Amino acid sequence: MVGDAGAMNQIGPRIPGVPFNVDRIRQDFPILSQSVRGKKLVFLDSAASAQKPRAVIEAMSHAMETQYANVHRGLHWMSERTTDAYESVRDQVASLLNAPSRDEIVFTRNTTEAINLVAHSYGRGVLQPGQAVLISEMEHHSNIVPWQMLRDAHGIRLLVAPVTDAGELDMAAYESLLADGNVGLVAITHMSNVLGTYTPAARVAALAHRFGARILFDGSQAVVHRAADVQAIDADFYVFTGHKLYGPTGIGVLWARAELLDRMPPFLGGGDMISSVSFEKSTWARVPHKFEAGTPAILEAIGLGAAISYVNEIGYDAIAAHEQSLTDHALATLSTIDGLYIIGRAQDRGGVISFTMDGAHAHDIATLLDRNGIAVRAGHHCAEPLMQRLGLDSTARASFALYTTHAEIDALAENLERVRSFFQ
Ligand code: ALA
Repeated sequence: MVGDAGAMNQIGPRIPGVPFNVDRIRQDFPILSQSVRGKKLVFLDSAASAQKPRAVIEAMSHAMETQYANVHRGLHWMSERTTDAYESVRDQVASLLNAPSRDEIVFTRNTTEAINLVAHSYGRGVLQPGQAVLISEMEHHSNIVPWQMLRDAHGIRLLVAPVTDAGELDMAAYESLLADGNVGLVAITHMSNVLGTYTPAARVAALAHRFGARILFDGSQAVVHRAADVQAIDADFYVFTGHKLYGPTGIGVLWARAELLDRMPPFLGGGDMISSVSFEKSTWARVPHKFEAGTPAILEAIGLGAAISYVNEIGYDAIAAHEQSLTDHALATLSTIDGLYIIGRAQDRGGVISFTMDGAHAHDIATLLDRNGIAVRAGHHCAEPLMQRLGLDSTARASFALYTTHAEIDALAENLERVRSFFQ
């Protein structure tokens, strides 16, 4: 159970009286003490997927070793325990997002599935042909392609708000697209996975609402680094994935206002999402179950619950302060490397840093860094339209997590100097 899992993390990430101790935290992540290619691992690819603390690993094994059964169906002890564990994670997610109700939390497989759910259900069931969905130039493919599919199937127009050269949402252009456009829904990242830019969520939501549009935030990156409060930003939909938040793969979240979920038709049909079934007609379970067809990702939800407990134990304030210090250090250090260009200079940004280097392709940079045990991502980062906007085909990207150290950033900079010398 989730509570047990927290208790199993016997040492705990916090030392009493010490708000944040990265060396102590790293001991909770068994993988980080590994060597790679004979070198100490420097893992700077957490924006793609974060490493898992022992609390998450143990919560999932503990559930399998002691109580595992299917949820919502059984009248036996094992099923009741597992149902309690699974459903208690819904409470944790509601609290994480400051959602008004636990019934507004829908478990999905990941962010992509959550956005597809909204595109399919809200898109076809509520939006009207001729209305527009407004996205931005800095979206991940998961917040582009589902809307293109909706456009092609349902006659929705797709509008794209530009980003400035600094890599921020162009607020004037955004407002004028809203003003012109019969926009039914804005779907926008809360933090860019390429540029590290935070979207000014409350301002963006207020503008959407002023022009009668609903707003969905893709919180996949943002929720890892800062507390997300759906009421404070006045969101209508908020989605994120578990595996970037130190949880397992295979579990994601859609939060939506209850009145929207009530109006939306089901996405997938099957077991668990019905109230009654006959060959003539089926009726739907109440939300959120209407959107959770089939056996859900039970163990993964339990793992996500342990991850949320872990993050809460450290606290978002401490995490954000540590990561801000890492980001400032990285921006200052990498800026001193000749021929290295940091892509994106937003005022409000987090620890996701994309860069290019004169004479070196991003894939070559990543390959050479990997030889020294340093993991970064290289490519288009599932954001090809943003690459086109930037006039690039790829970047290298270093991304930070609560377990990243200043020494790892120094190792990155030192090795990037070597890469530069190699290509010169
Ligand atoms: N969306 C993930 C990334 O940015 C996979 O790397």
